[in-house]
Amino acid sequence: MVCLGNICRSPLAEGILHNLTQNKAYHIDSAGTSNYHPGAKPDSRSIAIAAKNGIDISKQQARQISTADLDFFDHILVMDQQNLIDVLALCNSEKQQKKVALITAASGVDAMDIPDPYYGDEENFNYVFSLLHDSCTLWLAKQ
Ligand code: 4NP
Repeated sequence: MVCLGNICRSPLAEGILHNLTQNKAYHIDSAGTSNYHPGAKPDSRSIAIAAKNGIDISKQQARQISTADLDFFDHILVMDQQNLIDVLALCNSEKQQKKVALITAASGVDAMDIPDPYYGDEENFNYVFSLLHDSCTLWLAKQ
């Protein structure tokens, strides 16, 4: 799961997918295209909306995506169009490129992307949680 800062959207996506796949053997992680917040906990507003929905994301630590991720993971789901451009620019093979997809498009959710809530309010975080929950549920059903 990839966003810009790895403190708002992708930690929520990681937590939600982890929660939905509890009994299955998936290795789920998240990262940011930027290195703005290395080692930081998720944004308190993401921690709060996750907790309200029974998901603990407070132990996660932000990190930047690496080229090793593009080989290790089978699916690289990004949150918005800019993340897609940035992650595709890191790819050095068609095999890597084929793993990268916008989470909304890959799941069939009717939204352009997962909007960045960083400068928003609680309502923006609620919307992001709901879109990510729908996206992760639908994406998983397709696997
Ligand atoms: P995220 O949100 O990409 O969903 O983690 C952001 C977090 C931090 C910043 C931007 C977006 N920032 O500019 O620090």
